[in-house]
Amino acid sequence: MSKHNTLLVTGGAGFIGSNFIRYYLKNHPDHQIINLDLLTYAGNLSTVAEVANLPNYRFVHGDIRDAQLVDQLMTEVEKVVHFAAETHVDRSIMEPALFLETNIIGTQVLLDAALRHDIKQFHHISTDEVFGALSLDTDEKFDEHTPYNPHSPYSASKAASDHLVRAYGDTYGLPYTLSNCSNNYGEYHFPEKMIPLAITNLMDEQKVPVYGDGLYVRDWLYVQDHAQGIDLILQHGQIGETYLFGGLYKDINNLELIKMILKIMNKDESYIEHVLDRPGHDRRYSVDFSETSRKLGWQPSLELEEGLRKTIAWYQTHQDWWRPLKEKNQSYFTKQYKNRK
Ligand code: NAD
Ligand code: DAU
Repeated sequence: MSKHNTLLVTGGAGFIGSNFIRYYLKNHPDHQIINLDLLTYAGNLSTVAEVANLPNYRFVHGDIRDAQLVDQLMTEVEKVVHFAAETHVDRSIMEPALFLETNIIGTQVLLDAALRHDIKQFHHISTDEVFGALSLDTDEKFDEHTPYNPHSPYSASKAASDHLVRAYGDTYGLPYTLSNCSNNYGEYHFPEKMIPLAITNLMDEQKVPVYGDGLYVRDWLYVQDHAQGIDLILQHGQIGETYLFGGLYKDINNLELIKMILKIMNKDESYIEHVLDRPGHDRRYSVDFSETSRKLGWQPSLELEEGLRKTIAWYQTHQDWWRPLKEKNQSYFTKQYKNRK
């Protein structure tokens, strides 16, 4: 592989990373991707099986905290897209240390190596959760000027990694771009997260656990729209800029979301089960992505209901992908949900 037009993607065997790789290789068949992934519980080779045999794709099984390996890989690439992270808020409440090691130290190892090898663009994937929570009685949204105010160990670790990326830009001149995105959903979403958990539970006639009063609001974006946005940043993004991605123009709370899923799956509301709330649960997220639209010409392409229909159909035809993952992670589900009723 030549360095020109070669990307190092970290965490590409996970949900968004794999969707990005599929999108990118389809749209840039003459570019190359090296996918560095540790294959934690959230990363699986079955998630990238569709691209595994392409001549312009290479998988490297390894850890972003492995400085020697990362240093070697940086000699082979022009740009980096950094997805790898521990990503589930509930797991961060159970085991915060791993989130700090992966999300903060892992990012710092990559940044050091990127500097050493004159990487042309380091794109850091972040989340809207770093901004904290909005209240239900305003129509306020997060934008590029919203101060950071994270509440979970996960979002605090992502906030720290964002600060580090910008600090490497300011201090050492690292050519970075950064994006903060809202909740993604779609194909290959790990079945511990709300939407795939609901779909797969309902397929097995099980109830959907809704935390607290269910009046929590998330801003849902179809994952392939996120992938397109990242591609636009790689092609047209300004070094040193931050871009925000979101999917909805109107708030939808978790109960409304689950009711939408129930309706599409022809199930009644008896499948909703209110369970104990998540500690530190952020009330509402909503993203103003107008600056990103103006700068990159990006817009979400799918309405939530259409995206949910597509996603539900995918989970119905890809049981061989999610069933083994749910099975393998039974001990997590038992621990997370056993005393919540
Ligand atoms: P995911 O949990 O599905 O996948 C994470 C991937 O990172 C897995 O393949 C895992 O094996 C890999 N990984 C973890 N630790 C690693 C390590 N030490 N070395 C190498 N690989 C490692 O995550 P996702 O939902 O696809 O999220 C990807 C990125 O996008 C994360 O940085 C996350 O914070 C961010 N993000 C996610 C969402 C969302 O809704 N899922 C929204 C905004 C931003
Ligand atoms: O906002 C972006 C973030 O979205 C990403 O940075 C995270 O990596 C990603 O996991 C996601 O975080 P959330 O905590 O918002 O997603 P989750 O799917 O876990 O939960 C969505 C909402 O549903 C949230 O209000 C909590 C609620 N929920 C979740 C689960 C798993 C329930 O009510 N019951 C559940 O069983």
